[in-house]
Amino acid sequence: MIQKIKGFKDILPEDIGIWQKVESTAKSIFESFGFSEIRLPIIESSELFKRSIGENTDIVEKEMYTFADRNGGLITLRPEATASVVRSYIQNKMYAKDPERKLYTIGPMFRRERPQKGRYRQFYQINAEVFGIKSPLIDAQLILMLTNLFEKLEVKDVITHLNSLGCPGCRPDFRRALIDFFKPVSDELCKDCIRRIDKNPLRVLDCKSPSCKKAVENAPVITDYLCAECETHFIAVVDTLKKQNIPFKLNTRLVRGLDYYTRTTFEIQTSLLGAQSAVAGGGRYDGLVKVLGGPDQPAVGFAIGFDRLVEIMAVSQKQKESCIDIFIAALGEKSSTIAYRWICELNLSGIKAEMDFSGKSLKSQMRKAGKLNAMYVAIMGEVELNDGAVIVRDMKTKVQESIPIKKFIESVKDRKAA
Ligand code: HAM
Repeated sequence: MIQKIKGFKDILPEDIGIWQKVESTAKSIFESFGFSEIRLPIIESSELFKRSIGENTDIVEKEMYTFADRNGGLITLRPEATASVVRSYIQNKMYAKDPERKLYTIGPMFRRERPQKGRYRQFYQINAEVFGIKSPLIDAQLILMLTNLFEKLEVKDVITHLNSLGCPGCRPDFRRALIDFFKPVSDELCKDCIRRIDKNPLRVLDCKSPSCKKAVENAPVITDYLCAECETHFIAVVDTLKKQNIPFKLNTRLVRGLDYYTRTTFEIQTSLLGAQSAVAGGGRYDGLVKVLGGPDQPAVGFAIGFDRLVEIMAVSQKQKESCIDIFIAALGEKSSTIAYRWICELNLSGIKAEMDFSGKSLKSQMRKAGKLNAMYVAIMGEVELNDGAVIVRDMKTKVQESIPIKKFIESVKDRKAA
């Protein structure tokens, strides 16, 4: 039998309810905050990700699914959506009329990481990106929107970690200070981090290896190196969050795994998923639109790890089981024909009605109704047909009622509306 590829997964009908709930809640919240949906290709030219995420990041160095197209050009299954949203903002000249844009997009991303709980090679993200707004208020508002989504979904056990990564003006000083700090203690670092010292020393700060964690304890702290503008911006974000009672934790070791960030960065972390603690991450990337050939427009955004969010929702709360409105247990050909007409009519009017199509006994039809978690079962055999009435049983209270066949549809609709 052909199996699915390692790190990929099927989202099955019994699990889809929670995905749909997250998606519709996110869409409704994002739209009230002024965001519009955008749908983008899942393949882009490899250059787009190299230029935006950064050549020395794990994603670009070892996790991208990159292929030679038939004409020889290199194309990549998107490892994230921000680069594509920026490309689209520029290519479609969205900035021309009004540079301020709030966009969201939901879809699959691909990274060839080592699969484990909460980490997949195809995973889903919900992204929100804002263009053209410099104000720190928008950074805080994005965190508010994200926090609101988690609250609406009743997700507990999450903490928002907040940091500033400075800007191309002040970060080089911090970078140099880190290199000077790590060089003499390099033998205490893991293999990957020894390589990172010169190429990407900030990444050493959030390495999960115990030896690196210990080695960074006394490393320089980014907030001591921020220039005046970055500091003012960061203080404004912190103050706004405090004034709005949005809970967060300052974390000067939060660096994120993509190179485009400037100033505010944040991550929603959980302890419920073992090593994969980040459920959402984001921040400002003021230079990226320009780097990719667009105008000099600031930007800020985040992505939620959809799979991880669904997993922590399943851990932290028992989801309501899905159910159908009515199951029609019909016995005999004549009853089945009527039942078929009824379920179609009910389905067309938005009512979840089901029947048995294979002539099963009443007992096994009742069992099927139980499995489908039907709220009501209508029983219609020859006797009922002759009497011109259907028996409708409330599956919770077990109370039965006889409903005239002519009034059946109307009575189901009334029950649904009640
Ligand atoms: P990221 O931190 O790489 O940021 O990914 C965002 C979220 O996607 C993570 O917090 C995690 O929940 C989820 N995620 C990442 N990799 C995997 C995986 N292999 N399996 C399951 N879930 C995963 C970005 O992608 C940025 N583009 C976020 C952003 C938007 N920054 C500004 N705008």
